[in-house]
Amino acid sequence: MSTVSRYIEEHKDAFIKRLREAVEIPSVSGEIKRRDQVIRMGHWLKSQLEELNADVKLIDIGTQELEGETIPLPPVVFAQVGNDSNKKTLTIYGHYDVQPANTSDGWDSEPFELTIEGDLMRGRGSTDDKGPIVGWLNTLSAYKETKTPLPVNIKFVFEGMEESGSEGLDELVVKESQGFLKGTDAVCISDNYWLTNRKPALTYGLRGVSYFEICVSGPNADLHSGVFGGTVHEPMTDLIKVMGTLVNTDGKITIPGLYEMVQPLTDEELARYKNMDFDVKEYQDSIASKPITVSDDKATILMNRMRYPSLSLHGIEGAFYGGGAKTVIPAGVKGKFSIRTVPNMDIQKLEELVKKHLNSEFAKLNSRSNFEVVQLSAGPAWAADPNHWNFRAAAKAVKSVFGVEPDLTKEGGSIPVTLTFDESLKVNVCLLPMGRSDDGAHSTNEKLNISNFIEGTKVFAEYLENVATHD
Ligand code: BES
Ligand code: ZN
Ligand code: ZN
Repeated sequence: MSTVSRYIEEHKDAFIKRLREAVEIPSVSGEIKRRDQVIRMGHWLKSQLEELNADVKLIDIGTQELEGETIPLPPVVFAQVGNDSNKKTLTIYGHYDVQPANTSDGWDSEPFELTIEGDLMRGRGSTDDKGPIVGWLNTLSAYKETKTPLPVNIKFVFEGMEESGSEGLDELVVKESQGFLKGTDAVCISDNYWLTNRKPALTYGLRGVSYFEICVSGPNADLHSGVFGGTVHEPMTDLIKVMGTLVNTDGKITIPGLYEMVQPLTDEELARYKNMDFDVKEYQDSIASKPITVSDDKATILMNRMRYPSLSLHGIEGAFYGGGAKTVIPAGVKGKFSIRTVPNMDIQKLEELVKKHLNSEFAKLNSRSNFEVVQLSAGPAWAADPNHWNFRAAAKAVKSVFGVEPDLTKEGGSIPVTLTFDESLKVNVCLLPMGRSDDGAHSTNEKLNISNFIEGTKVFAEYLENVATHD
């Protein structure tokens, strides 16, 4: 074992303590009242990085309108360690914001405290994405404390808005491709998960996401359903009808023309999914107490997650949703849904198809309600070349730490900036996950295994060595 790996092994407690500090800052980007905590988290990272001899800048990316208020966007943390023109330069991205979490959602412990049970560390952000970010800090500590020279120059980009659509980041990355990020030879992102709970993975593709809102309104204010029911066109009724025409129970999207944009499946690709190391039963058991997947077939499940688009209905703003039996006709409602996009899909064309379909479905209702479809954000899919030296460097590190070849996966989730790095820096991007498939990112009781945290940090450390030597 190298000196750096040994140091990591021997400093578990200090490394966990660092993650504990991070989890204790409730940096939820989606909640106005916690924006100061997101900003605090950016400052925490700055001081951590400075202690590790990095050159750190907090970049102000302006403000945002949220629920009618103008609030500051959290800073993007730029940090540089090493500036040796004889060494390669690696850009590492992560996000320091997290999803909301409330004890009342069903957590077994306080979400913003790190609770340890055996090998598990539970807490919001433990796996998404504070564990991996702290893993990089710990990697720097291990190099520094063992007085091992860093084999590469590193530029860190840590943002605080990823869970809320990465507002402001694309523009900054494009601009800084000729500034701070200039000279980047490859990018590494640790913000996804192994495909299974058993085997490490490297990821070379992500779906994108386009988010829509269907706005239906009519009356000037909410109405009494006893007085007005049966006499007016009701926005909620119209919305439900129209929302119901987007997707079938088996997950097939019913927007005409959409599947024509999806790459046809080749025999070779199908064979790849059939051969992937993935257990349907294990997957099903991780979701519910009985199977609820749309299919029991391994390749179908994997393809539906990795290579086909999907459409999810997320919620209805303005609708009555509490307990009890309120007899109201909501005056205006907004139906929210998103589509995960895959390679080859033209996202402008997608927007047109979605609007055309919904407008024509609404027209069939002969309703006098007001109707509008708005696209809130749009994102294409990303795919990289898994044979690039960046992936070989990562695979070798995984092999040396875990003793197995990593699974090569594509993911159903999205990290919007990935494609921006790829296109603006014109370098390979490798996704190197730290956590397991059952970590429960975004869910209650989100966790990270201590073993993943520590072995994952060793992988990071070895990966840096391999980046320096692979071409
Ligand atoms: N870490 C996830 C991305 C992810 C999830 C990758 C699952 C692979 C598998 C990230 O923090 C995330 O949640 N992204 C959002 C992006 C959206 C807000 C634009 C997502 O995928 O919903
Ligand atoms: Zn994430
Ligand atoms: Zn996330």
